[in-house]
Amino acid sequence: MNNFTYSIPTKIHFGKGQITHLSELRESGEKVLLVYGGGSIKKAGIYDTAMKILKDAGLCVSELSGVEPNPRIESVVKGVKICKEEKIDMVLAIGGGSVIDCGKVIAAGACSEEDPWELVLHPEKITAALPIYSVLTLAATGSEMDKFAVISDLKKNEKWGTASEHMKPKMSIMDPEYTYSVSKKQTAAGTADIISHIFENYFTNVSNADVQARFAEGLLKNCFYYGPIALEHPDDYDARANLMWTSSMAINGILSDGAEVAWCVHPMEHELSAFYDITHGEGLAILTPHWMEFALNEATAKKFADYGRNVWNLPMAEENMETARKAINCTRKFFRDMGLPTTLREVGIDETYFDIMAEKAAAGCRGSFVELTKEDIIHIYENAL
Ligand code: NZQ
Ligand code: ZN
Repeated sequence: MNNFTYSIPTKIHFGKGQITHLSELRESGEKVLLVYGGGSIKKAGIYDTAMKILKDAGLCVSELSGVEPNPRIESVVKGVKICKEEKIDMVLAIGGGSVIDCGKVIAAGACSEEDPWELVLHPEKITAALPIYSVLTLAATGSEMDKFAVISDLKKNEKWGTASEHMKPKMSIMDPEYTYSVSKKQTAAGTADIISHIFENYFTNVSNADVQARFAEGLLKNCFYYGPIALEHPDDYDARANLMWTSSMAINGILSDGAEVAWCVHPMEHELSAFYDITHGEGLAILTPHWMEFALNEATAKKFADYGRNVWNLPMAEENMETARKAINCTRKFFRDMGLPTTLREVGIDETYFDIMAEKAAAGCRGSFVELTKEDIIHIYENAL
């Protein structure tokens, strides 16, 4: 296990009715920028509840609505402008990962003279951010408890992740009931995203980071158990609660600190979203089994077999390679059974941009569990067609 410093400054209020804690925003001043998406929070009544609590607490609320899934830099720029003009004290994002990510970069941009796109391309330029608060409404990205934000400039076909300790939320409210209204498509995609985050951390070259590995296997079991329940019974509290808490644990550092991870399926997927604006979790579900097949060799079979035995309860006695193949098949079948797309063509992608997408993705895959060249990535895209 490698050295690490573990620090999660985000206070979590988890469970039914925890939205009342929004009154705590008073600790950061008076003026709040409320950031939200296309209206799901209004339909679900979360907007009205939040506004009443904020107003009763004496807070003054400005709004930025209409943040897109795969949030655009244009929305960030609008938010930064409001923050600067209205001398906003803090940002409150209510929504899924897109809304929270947008809120994070707005908070950073409000404290900077840089063009916000520079803060996306050069995370080291983020030197401060307004306090960030979130109310999570979709279990997927883990943005509610991590330092990352992913922003797109679709005019340039660019989608990049940025990261900063300054962008870790100060407080997040996680009420599983708020995810009852999430559609089947987004529930499945969110579950695939959580699973992919765990995989990206689990498939590491650092040996003996066993605490991280055993945590990861437990979290994977949770996803494979509760994902289908949430799909069939959207208002099953335990399913929604377990997926929600898993989403945070998958990416808040507890699995990755000390395990030196370098993600690779995510950089490949981000190119699909950048060029085709597809749903992130669907792209991951399509690519993951193909990445696994590509990454499986004599040297990696043991790790895939561990996954098969400890997560899918495959027999201990069988040899590693056979168990590894079965584990990959279990993974593929799970995504299919969740109703997720299995080919790139299903989401409208053909080979037109494979070359440029692979070239860009390769830069993000350096040092990963199995190194991927541009040609390897093209091969994976082709297999996924
Ligand atoms: O816009 P609204 O009306 O809110 O509707 C959203 C959106 O259409 C809807 N939704 C959210 N909560 C709902 C709901 N619908 C009904 N009931 C609710 N309770 O769901 C749709 C998708 O929302 P979005 O926020 O885009 O989904 P998700 O949370 O999966 O976020 C995806 C974005 O996060 C990035 C992805 O690349 C993508 O841009 N990621 C962020 C990461 C991070 N910050 O750490 C890591 C991830 O790997 C990922 O890259
Ligand atoms: Zn993801």
